[in-house]
Amino acid sequence: MERTLSIIKPDATAKNVIGQILSRFESAGLAIKGVRMMNMTSAQAKEFYAVHKERPFYGELCDYMTSGPVVVSVLEGTDAVALNRKLMGATNPKDADKGTIRADFGDSIGANAVHGSDSLENAKNEVKFFFPELD
Ligand code: CMP
Repeated sequence: MERTLSIIKPDATAKNVIGQILSRFESAGLAIKGVRMMNMTSAQAKEFYAVHKERPFYGELCDYMTSGPVVVSVLEGTDAVALNRKLMGATNPKDADKGTIRADFGDSIGANAVHGSDSLENAKNEVKFFFPELD
């Protein structure tokens, strides 16, 4: 059993597909152990994405993640980290396999519908970041 963090990004919340995305997680066998709709503050976005702070897109990424509501959730299941990443598809929706969340709902590399933890270690930190009560 693993836990991972998912974020439904502003492009997807604006498209009214929150339920469809959460449903994909549940249909694949992931249980939603925590879920919250929120507006990320600039400080939260900067801290959450601090691993990318040297990347040229860091500022754009933080601005984007604070541009509208997001839905953060904790997903639990067997191999949850890898399973969630498989459901999401490649970072750039153009490269994402057919039927994945990013292929179906993403618009661009920045507005790519969802974020998901990329390793078990990062998942632990990311879950704690938004859901300290579940740690
Ligand atoms: P995410 O899974 O949220 O993790 C980091 C994000 O940075 C990634 O999804 C993309 O949305 C974003 N990203 C990655 N590469 C680029 C890029 N070249 N330009 C803008 N955003 C990017």
